Amino acid sequence: MTSVNVSGLRKSYATGAEAVPVFTGLSLRLASHESLALTGPSGSGKSTLLNILCGLEGIDGGEVHVLGHEGASLSNDQWAGLRRQRIGVVFQDSNLMPALTLEENLKLRADLAGRSFGPVRDWLSRLGLAGLEDRYPDQVSGGQRQRAALAMVFVMGPDLVLADEPTGSLDRHTARDVADALFHWQQAQGCSLILATHDLELADRCNRRLDLAGGGQQ
Ligand SMILES: Nc1ncnc2c1ncn2[C@@H]1O[C@H](COP(=O)(O)OP(=O)(O)OP(=O)(O)O)[C@@H](O)[C@H]1O
Ligand SMILES: [Mg+2]
Repeated sequence: MTSVNVSGLRKSYATGAEAVPVFTGLSLRLASHESLALTGPSGSGKSTLLNILCGLEGIDGGEVHVLGHEGASLSNDQWAGLRRQRIGVVFQDSNLMPALTLEENLKLRADLAGRSFGPVRDWLSRLGLAGLEDRYPDQVSGGQRQRAALAMVFVMGPDLVLADEPTGSLDRHTARDVADALFHWQQAQGCSLILATHDLELADRCNRRLDLAGGGQQ
């Protein structure tokens, strides 16, 4: 089973009168259960590709298939439905609701995905957040928020995870623990994972790596 299939992707951003090309014919295919690291210098298009794969950014040409759907044929509501139930997105400025505690955020996330709550405190604790369950997002550090965002994906149980620098604001030791939890969970869940990272040690833990330097053309 293929979870992501991109062919001939073209994307540019209009900045003033000029169009700045990011992708001029990118192709990639990812099987279910596979993990892929997106690497490449700042500005090479890693976040743009993740945004395209979850429907938050449009494309100019080519085709994008995600979890059996052709991207161009999906309405915004259908993309939102996929992000609620099947595509787990971990961005640095996470989707934590500021008015809810970390635990309440996880419960809401599970609820929206139609999952039973399960042991949400266990997920927080496995990511080193024991004792912070009742804090609000603005009462924890950036790295703790990032881990809570990852816990949200764990409780949601998606088929595809898109993670933008999931360990970007963590120290080396915590980053390794979080990566352990992420890959362990991904294998147990049998889902596919695409992560963007500047950390080559983390990239090496994925099944494959795509370097987007120069537009990722291969
Ligand atoms: N909304 C936007 N409007 C115009 N240009 C944009 C926009 N978003 C991104 N870009 C440009 O597109 C290119 C790719 O940006 P992107 O954020 O995808 O890079 P990245 O590989 O994620 O970089 P980083 O490693 O710094 O996170 C950059 O040249 C960036 O300036
Ligand atoms: Mg980025």
